[in-house]
Amino acid sequence: MGGGVGAALLVPAARLVGHAVGRVVVSSPTDPIDAIAADQVGDLPVRVPLVAASVRDAYASTANVVLGAAWLRRGQDGQIAALSSVCPHKGCAIGFAEGAKRYECPCHSATFDLDGNRLSGPAERGLDPLPVVIERGRVKVTWVRYQNGGADRKPA
Ligand code: FES
Repeated sequence: MGGGVGAALLVPAARLVGHAVGRVVVSSPTDPIDAIAADQVGDLPVRVPLVAASVRDAYASTANVVLGAAWLRRGQDGQIAALSSVCPHKGCAIGFAEGAKRYECPCHSATFDLDGNRLSGPAERGLDPLPVVIERGRVKVTWVRYQNGGADRKPA
């Protein structure tokens, strides 16, 4: 009888341990993140960090986690668009060259136009767009991390 009780306790314990090991346990919020006042976004890109109020993993919840950054810009139609600051080639942080009015990657010299279209370099696609909503004068951006490389855009 003692062996049966021991087995009854060990099986759930083993499941609990197995659950946390070998699985993807970090989750990021998919809610739009408040980024900046809409009237601060003009026709030249502005870089904003995207900070999650909390990120939860298997053990704890962490507040104010920087997920990434976005470049925001108001297009000729007046609409605000967001581009991921992650280079679609190997993931370096994209910068904006005001003189040339284009995005540039410092790692392997990929360049992109103001709309994020690929101009030159090893990246096989343009910069990745991020969903944007405007609420009560604030720009909210949903963070999406895409796979590096490739011409097709696939969430990581
Ligand atoms: S990481 Fe940007 S061009 Fe290679």
